[in-house]
Amino acid sequence: MSTEPVNVDEFEELARQALPRMYYDYIAGGAEDQHTLRQNIQAFCRITIQPRILVDVSKIDMSTTILGYRISAPIMVAPTGSHKLAYHEGELATARAAAAAKTIMVLSLASSYSMEEVASSCNAIRFFQLYVFKRRDVSTLLVQRAERFGYKAIVLTADTPRLGRREADIKNKMIAPPQKNLEGLLSVKVEVESDQGSLLESFVNEAFDPSLCWKDVAWLKSITSLPILIKGILTHEDAIKAVEVGVDGIIVSNHGARQLDFSPATVSALEEIVHAVKGKVPVLLDGGVRRGTDIFKALALGAQAVLVGRPIIYGLAAKGERGVRTVLEMLKNELEISMTLSGCPCIKDITRSHVRTNTHYD
Ligand code: FNR
Repeated sequence: MSTEPVNVDEFEELARQALPRMYYDYIAGGAEDQHTLRQNIQAFCRITIQPRILVDVSKIDMSTTILGYRISAPIMVAPTGSHKLAYHEGELATARAAAAAKTIMVLSLASSYSMEEVASSCNAIRFFQLYVFKRRDVSTLLVQRAERFGYKAIVLTADTPRLGRREADIKNKMIAPPQKNLEGLLSVKVEVESDQGSLLESFVNEAFDPSLCWKDVAWLKSITSLPILIKGILTHEDAIKAVEVGVDGIIVSNHGARQLDFSPATVSALEEIVHAVKGKVPVLLDGGVRRGTDIFKALALGAQAVLVGRPIIYGLAAKGERGVRTVLEMLKNELEISMTLSGCPCIKDITRSHVRTNTHYD
């Protein structure tokens, strides 16, 4: 019998076996009771796919365009920090795998390799994810460096005025991994005075700017000519504001359920956001995507693409660059099967009528 993983969940199991407990908990875990963490997955299970038969599906084309960049399938790499915790080549390996899959990698500001190192290691299409610091000059410098080194868009993560309460990290006394992009720019005194926080939490709460608000998107636009996507939108109210302040795209995200527990599962929030946006900017989604059928469902509800976070790190921890390649290929293959079996030869053929929400299998 082959021991090669055949799906993302099996990659997670391999990663769990390969990683020190503290790191696995940090990657896999969510906030507080992890209700939203479970719902991110389960909300996909409440959606059925309504297939059409007798459609010519002899050729399937999964390619699509995001902000003008052609990618092989609507599956992007979400920004997740500290890939060296999973594998020594960290984001360098991830970026090479993204390039091989012909997709976009969003590099986290909190990456283990610097944005320059990642840029020079591969020819993947790269976006740069930004957190805004109290030291605005540091965020400005980072955006300028990203622009100079060929990153094609800024992804502003807007759901982290402070770190969510991740109890496994508190128990494990999770470290604050080194942040290569910040070397020589920001030194923050991190210490934990009680058992109520991790070093990571202490770093975030010291450094990140909790006063960041909608008017600051104008500031961000004034320091870069790159398109700006805003990540962390979960309501139609905020989607409308995002369009009003002139962002170029929206990422429906609850940060992999690591911030506010009991925030909605992302696929449950998607449709109201798509309606509010009225096609003015692309809407992407992340959170709980583990199968090609999940991707199909998100597209049917109006997302232009999905991003995957943990599955990428599981691939990296289990088998390095090859693992990330395999995870991306698996998801692409599964999407291809879903499109074939539901009678949708192209991405644009996947419509709202191909899914039903709030259905239950007993
Ligand atoms: C994240 N996420 C994240 N988001 C972000 O904007 N900047 C970051 O540095 C990180 N770091 C990070 C680390 C780890 C270990 C995880 C699991 C997640 C959130 C990430 O971009 C994305 O929103 C979620 O991971 C999507 O959910 P799934 O695919 O992990 O279920």
